[in-house]
Amino acid sequence: MSENQNNNKLTTAAGAPVVDNQNSQSAGPRGPLLLQDVWLLEKLAHFDREVIPERRMHAKGSGAYGKFTVTHDITQYTSAALFSEIGKETEMFVRFSTVAGERGAADAERDIRGFSMRFYTEQGNWDLVGNNTPVFFFRDPLNFPDLNHAVKRDPRTNMRSANNNWDFWTSLPEALHQVTIVMSDRGIPKSYRTMHGFGSHTFSMINANNERVWVKFHMRSQQDIENLTDQEAVEVVGVDRESHQRDLYENIEEGNFPKWKMYIQVMTEEQANNMPYNPFDLTKVWYKKDFPLIEVGEWELNRNPENYFAEVEQAAFTPANVVPGISFSPDKMLQGRLFSYGDAQRYRLGVNHHQIPVNTPKCPVHSFHRDGAMRVDGNKGSTLHYEPNSYGQWKTQPEYKEPRLALQGDAGIWDFREDDDNYYEQPGKLFRLMSSEQQEILIDNTARNMNGVEEFIKIRHIIHCFKADPAYGQGLAEAMEIPWGNVEAAMA
Ligand code: HEM
Repeated sequence: MSENQNNNKLTTAAGAPVVDNQNSQSAGPRGPLLLQDVWLLEKLAHFDREVIPERRMHAKGSGAYGKFTVTHDITQYTSAALFSEIGKETEMFVRFSTVAGERGAADAERDIRGFSMRFYTEQGNWDLVGNNTPVFFFRDPLNFPDLNHAVKRDPRTNMRSANNNWDFWTSLPEALHQVTIVMSDRGIPKSYRTMHGFGSHTFSMINANNERVWVKFHMRSQQDIENLTDQEAVEVVGVDRESHQRDLYENIEEGNFPKWKMYIQVMTEEQANNMPYNPFDLTKVWYKKDFPLIEVGEWELNRNPENYFAEVEQAAFTPANVVPGISFSPDKMLQGRLFSYGDAQRYRLGVNHHQIPVNTPKCPVHSFHRDGAMRVDGNKGSTLHYEPNSYGQWKTQPEYKEPRLALQGDAGIWDFREDDDNYYEQPGKLFRLMSSEQQEILIDNTARNMNGVEEFIKIRHIIHCFKADPAYGQGLAEAMEIPWGNVEAAMA
């Protein structure tokens, strides 16, 4: 029985009876309202505060609960309890999202999709906060706030600006890989169920012998991959702005639980030291022929949240949430994210957001954090709140100390372009992997998307594409009706 059926009497937040919820107290039947109408004051005051800041990126999303099951033994790589034995199940909460749109944006837009997974393990929450693409636009977290500004609204027009967007993307040649994926036939998934997911970054796994390997995570949809063309998306948005939310919600309600399989790619520390490119560069993939997919498990989503705000809007995922046996890597983007998410959530939800049920670990939490706004769990009562103490309360757990990581070089600013300026090889390979029909779709989508962008920016993009594969650049120039002579002049 839901809360309001238990007791059908309306009360104030303090539990007192509400005697009238339709008529405010007034001085006479037609007179002004009375300050003593505390119910009216409470109702309006609560309403005034019902909106919390939306996520800075990935504001529009859908979430559901599910379970992960281990199907293959990977204990040689990790001591993480959730992977300890075949058949082991772990509860999950997953949130999918679009990136650039605000909280009320339409779902069927050309954009990256966020792919956030939380595993409620007995060693704490593990959050894998990924996307539906294996790479990202750049390699340094300093670029992230600018990406956000460039893809969101123009400060003057308050409209999205293709010019700002493409000016920024094309100024970073390393973005071409991700841009090619977003403009491809996979750029508008038909639904959240019909797309793959990626942890994207390089992470580490540490086994019971305290040996480290580098890993990438892949989630492969067990539904068919289905996408929308630009034209189909226009039609969908015209009749349904919540197409992804509706699809996910309704399929779960009907018992048609979406499933994904989890795979990892594994690279030894020695292999990493001998890689021809930086294995921690988020703009690059690891080739599957060199680092084959290793099956780990499968998961399904099988329960819709009862309350969207409580469980989806207030969910606070962060790449900083790892568990023993799974850890970080020197990927600079990952390092930047380790700070940004918790910081955003302390602002968006408050310092005690870990107590919101969707964020609360399903294992005991013993910390010395106390007080702060909205502390609602009893604040650990009279237990000691300092460490070291003489009473053995809440001892640290040095057995989980990670192996040390050898580093190279002096601390300071290092220009990654001097380290590796091979921006084009992987996008070129991706282009050549596409069928001619897919290449045509990519080129048409890009030309349409760049409509209205200044010519020098279009040419800059054509040159990047040309360097990846001449047919990519030439096809795009043709589709945008830019004379090849203009491109050559710019290249000279
Ligand atoms: C959301 C920052 C890169 C995936 C967010 C949020 C921030 C943020 C502040 C909002 C968090 C919240 O309010 O709860 C950054 C920074 C990045 C970065 C600074 C680069 C340094 C990435 C990358 C990925 C990613 C590379 C994927 C591989 C996501 C997802 C969400 C998100 C999926 C939504 C989380 C949710 O479902 O609640 N990001 N981000 N971000 N980000 Fe990033």
